[in-house]
Amino acid sequence: MTAGTAPPSPPPSGAPTAGATRQWRGVVAEYADRLPPEVGTGTVVTLREGGTPLIHSQGLSQRTGCDVWLKFEGTNPTGSFKDRGMTTAISAAVTAGARALICASTGNTAASAAAYAAKAGLTCGVLVPRGKVALGKLAQALVHGATVLQIDGGFDAALSMCRSLDESEAVELVNSVNPYRIEGQKTLAFEVCESLGRAPDVHVMPVGNAGNITAVWRGYHEEHAAGRTAGLPVLRGYQAAGAAPIVRDQSVENPCTIATAIRIGNPASWGPAIAAAEESGGSIRAVTDRAILSAYRLAAAQEGVFCEMASAASIAGLLELADAGELTAGETVVCTLTGHGLKDPDWAIAGAATPPVIAADVDTAAQRLGLRDVA
Ligand code: F0G
Repeated sequence: MTAGTAPPSPPPSGAPTAGATRQWRGVVAEYADRLPPEVGTGTVVTLREGGTPLIHSQGLSQRTGCDVWLKFEGTNPTGSFKDRGMTTAISAAVTAGARALICASTGNTAASAAAYAAKAGLTCGVLVPRGKVALGKLAQALVHGATVLQIDGGFDAALSMCRSLDESEAVELVNSVNPYRIEGQKTLAFEVCESLGRAPDVHVMPVGNAGNITAVWRGYHEEHAAGRTAGLPVLRGYQAAGAAPIVRDQSVENPCTIATAIRIGNPASWGPAIAAAEESGGSIRAVTDRAILSAYRLAAAQEGVFCEMASAASIAGLLELADAGELTAGETVVCTLTGHGLKDPDWAIAGAATPPVIAADVDTAAQRLGLRDVA
């Protein structure tokens, strides 16, 4: 070594220095004791997902007579609940020696898989329905370096192709048919119980490929079985009316809804989703696109929460339950808002007037903002 040259510093460990204040560690580290050992004992691929806010809604509480809370999953690292299951699925895949990942997606799974694959140094292939993926989600998959293929067909065809590739090729499928995805996603229920100090009476959520309702039910069940909560919630799942195979009890060939994230005609977790709803004493029903759009606007304009269209199906469902007199006054209700509205700003802009252009003049601005009497 040349005199005066500092020795190379050791590679950064990622460990906090003494005196650092606490940071949420991600769902694998936070819930290691409640996840399969394969997930937490090897390499953990995390972007510190989970730890999302449970936001009280005064407006929806007043409207429904219940105590309504919004679990906003849009604050996850890639902007949706998928990150909870992706950290577990990809950690298990890396520990098992996988080099390549694949998934079918309406957008969010692709965005999440691409980000975690980038973090882990794996290749990622995603198959999406042509022309039916929100631009923000496509941008995420691309910027994280995934290979994106648009399928001339819907999500169901894309998932079927991925299942075949999983069998024939050396690739790890990270859709929610991967058991580690469900394991990670159940942590949402853990957080809700910890935030409330109990299980809610009712939990409302959108249903697409039906993995999430399956996962959340498992989470509540485990909390209850471990004696951490006294009760179990009633689960209320909502599909979009034009993409409601579970409600109609038959697969839908050409699903159609503005909520592209849940535009699915043949959900992979169909059976487990029905079991979850029934065991909980709840239901899976459909809400119209009109009701979803109105709930989407309400969430943004009255609650300050910009969620994506599919997420608003839970608020639309809540309002429908309230209008039908199916909620009991004073019940604690949680709605999952599954993803962030920024992923698909087109709908937000489409519903608003174009902002006027004015001269760079304070008086004009004050007048146009209604801050001064015009007279
Ligand atoms: N909400 C959003 C924002 C979603 O992206 C999805 C599913 C769901 C709800 C429904 O959850 O499938 O577990 O019933 N998106 C998947 C995807 C299909 O490819 O991103 P589910």
